[in-house]
Amino acid sequence: MLNQNNETYLYVHIPFCRSKCSYCSFYSVVSENLKETFTRHLIEEVKLLSQKYSDAKLRSIYFGGGTPSSLGTEFLSDILDAIREQFTLLDPEITIEVNPEDVDDDFSSEIKAIGFNRVSMGVQSTDVNTLKLLNRHADFEVVQFAFHSLRQAGFDNISLDIMYGLPHTSLSVLQKSVEDILSLQPEHLSIYCLTIDNKTVLKYRVDKGEINPKSDELVDEEYTYLLQILRDSAYERYEISNFSKSAKKSIHNSSYWAYMDTLGLGPSACYKVDDTRYENTSSLQGYFDMISNNSLPVSNTICLSDEELFVESLFMGLRQVKGVDYSVLKSQYKIVDDEVYLNWIEKYVKLKLMSFEGGRLQFINRGLDISNSILCEII
Ligand SMILES: C[S@@+](CC[C@H](N)C(=O)[O-])C[C@H]1O[C@@H](n2cnc3c(N)ncnc32)[C@H](O)[C@@H]1O
Ligand code: SF4
Repeated sequence: MLNQNNETYLYVHIPFCRSKCSYCSFYSVVSENLKETFTRHLIEEVKLLSQKYSDAKLRSIYFGGGTPSSLGTEFLSDILDAIREQFTLLDPEITIEVNPEDVDDDFSSEIKAIGFNRVSMGVQSTDVNTLKLLNRHADFEVVQFAFHSLRQAGFDNISLDIMYGLPHTSLSVLQKSVEDILSLQPEHLSIYCLTIDNKTVLKYRVDKGEINPKSDELVDEEYTYLLQILRDSAYERYEISNFSKSAKKSIHNSSYWAYMDTLGLGPSACYKVDDTRYENTSSLQGYFDMISNNSLPVSNTICLSDEELFVESLFMGLRQVKGVDYSVLKSQYKIVDDEVYLNWIEKYVKLKLMSFEGGRLQFINRGLDISNSILCEII
């Protein structure tokens, strides 16, 4: 059963990319000929999921990946139509992640006509050498063209992704990329610190000694620069890595930070309903097989205890600048003995890294910037 009056947030994972970036471990395959079969199965999954959650009302729909823009607008339209047919929609935010090289005037006007009202575009860097290292193919000219196409088509809620902590680059390279990106005046920005994930080309090259990861001091310098320039450019930081203008915060991502019940579709999608987390299989063949057998493609179901739910909701909620209502969470998850949490809070309140007033708990000063290490203490 869904909480929150059956209002929920739907993630759709599109597992295709035109090529694989050197750093990325998200589930995706490079294949043209599986797209139709995938779309057919995804539409079946929409029906299966809506049978289970027949009262669900969607506040947001988020097509992520992978690269949703590489699926093509006809299949994207078929999927959105199926979602509209099977679920109640509450005038939702409907986001699509796009890669710049997929976007031209036709694409932009088609996704607008289909019903998407928010676009998140991965730029990462505009430096040609860095793009080569990342195995990404859109230089700034392509990014500019894509951005202007989207604007021309009427999109007034565009988010751009920037990466920092990238190896073999200096601060001035990041500065130039950020200047380029800011010149486009997006409503929203997400900043990602590179993680060197297992089973990526980058990890292989680091292990071989071909690439040296950036030192913590240099990563810190870049992070400090980013916070400053985004503040100076009037972007409001509302989450550790997310910044918005004109109150264009991401409704979908905010649902994760507020620890709401969510739903998910597509291989490797994860979602949480009440006290249970569901993980869809990451194998495309396994995904096809399970759906052909009329079952939801869930490969892992994890039932969370009240204490686990409480800690996870703290973890997610404290990522937001506004923090969490600690007393509400405590009573929601029936936490009777919270001495260990109160001691932890007291320590960081004394260090002036957290504030705890009237039940509201939030990071302050540099607390948000080093929140990962502070949060790890209570796992
Ligand atoms: C998985 S991608 C999907 C969207 C789209 N395909 C793209 O490339 O922008 C979403 C975001 O995750 C970020 N990402 C993926 N792997 C990462 C890593 N190892 N470190 C930091 N960010 C990463 C990318 O930079 C991207 O902006
Ligand atoms: S970063 Fe985006 S385009 Fe690159 S491999 Fe990952 S999902 Fe695909």
